[in-house]
Amino acid sequence: MKILVVGGGGREHAICWKLSKSPSVKKIYAAPGNAGIGTIAECVDLAIDDLAGLADCVEKNKIDLTVVGPELPLTLGIVDEFESRGLKIFGPSKEAALIEGSKAFAKEFMQKHHIPTASFRIFSEHFEALDFIKSASYPLVLKADGLAAGKGAVICKNVEEAGETVEKIMVQKVFGAAGLKLVVEEFMEGEEVTVMAFTDGKNIVPMVPSQDHKQIYEGDKGPNTGGMGAYAPANIITARLLKTVCEEILEPTVRGLASENRTYKGVLYCGLMVTGRGVKVLEYNCRFGDPETQVVLPLLETDLAEVFNNIADGYLNIDEIDWSEKSAVTVVLASEGYPGEYETNKAIEGLDSVKADTELVFHAGTRFEKGRFLTGGGRVLNATAFGEGIKAAITNVYQLVGKINFDGMYYRQDIGWRAQNRIGLY
Ligand SMILES: Nc1ncnc2c1ncn2[C@@H]1O[C@H](COP(=O)(O)OP(=O)(O)O)[C@@H](O)[C@H]1O
Ligand SMILES: [Mg+2]
Repeated sequence: MKILVVGGGGREHAICWKLSKSPSVKKIYAAPGNAGIGTIAECVDLAIDDLAGLADCVEKNKIDLTVVGPELPLTLGIVDEFESRGLKIFGPSKEAALIEGSKAFAKEFMQKHHIPTASFRIFSEHFEALDFIKSASYPLVLKADGLAAGKGAVICKNVEEAGETVEKIMVQKVFGAAGLKLVVEEFMEGEEVTVMAFTDGKNIVPMVPSQDHKQIYEGDKGPNTGGMGAYAPANIITARLLKTVCEEILEPTVRGLASENRTYKGVLYCGLMVTGRGVKVLEYNCRFGDPETQVVLPLLETDLAEVFNNIADGYLNIDEIDWSEKSAVTVVLASEGYPGEYETNKAIEGLDSVKADTELVFHAGTRFEKGRFLTGGGRVLNATAFGEGIKAAITNVYQLVGKINFDGMYYRQDIGWRAQNRIGLY
């Protein structure tokens, strides 16, 4: 098989790495890829939203299967475009990708299909939203309806903050058309966790639960980022709780999508809040999470290319997917200043001393110049390691981090702290 992976971050590097282990994969292409992906795949210089260009590339190179990393091409309808041209692709159709593309749609979908989530109201007129927030209780969560690069959800402490947020999203339209509608949600208290699942639109196989660390500083302080690290399995989701998540969330979601004729062959990502009153959905994503994928896929023991191919053909064999018993942790190595301003083009040292297979370094924002890797983004690398249990995995990953260096390298030293605190509680 020849496979094209669309995207160019740490998530796509992890997907390409896993595919490179598959005996049935002859060649991997990535669009646009990155410097790390370039060591195992051929990078083609195409933008992720150039749907026609990507399809042309697949036809020209006789690529058998395309796998989509980011949400943008999915919400633009890449799956529909490819299938109309007879090209095989792994991902949800445009109509199904709406569960991520529109938060208003997702909330109404959950309500309709009795899937537990925070109570909400949807507004398309700013003065109605302003009126509502006056009598709401706080904190209150306000979200732009459409894609906003992870910046469209704001937790407001009081009516003043909520008013400013309505103004920004609906009047100034800082997220453009994504702010035509506003979702106002009840604030949920609890711990966040991610459960992703493979689905062919009928069957589902949950992946190992994982947990991201969104804030820039230790102890989950400071502004949100694209994710500073992750671990799996997330032990807050016990086997019993995972069964509940399957029955109350994953299965009704896939059934609901099918009942609305929204074809979903891909990865369903559920961002969950474990509250005192059960597990509720924070949001859906219509693809793999980043950085969760960097810890989940390394624990997959099944041939990923086969899984992708079978799902794209519409048939997921639920007995075929196996997971390692180990734990995995990934630590994001970022440029000093991120998520604000930062410098790039710093030489990265130590990559040669990484042990093959037990230590993995996925590239998120790097470039390759004159024989060496340079920093090229805010999140630069994802250092990933394993262990028998979370404690060992944490020790191993920080040993790996210690080998790597670049000028201004910043990382959180407490990735996995919640899991470590929980050891012994069960
Ligand atoms: N109803 C809620 N209650 C508490 N926290 C929330 C709620 N909705 C969102 N959040 C917080 O805001 C973050 C971003 O919201 P989310 O819906 O995931 O939007 P996006 O990832 O598209 O920015 C979540 O990860 C969570 O920390
Ligand atoms: Mg989110």
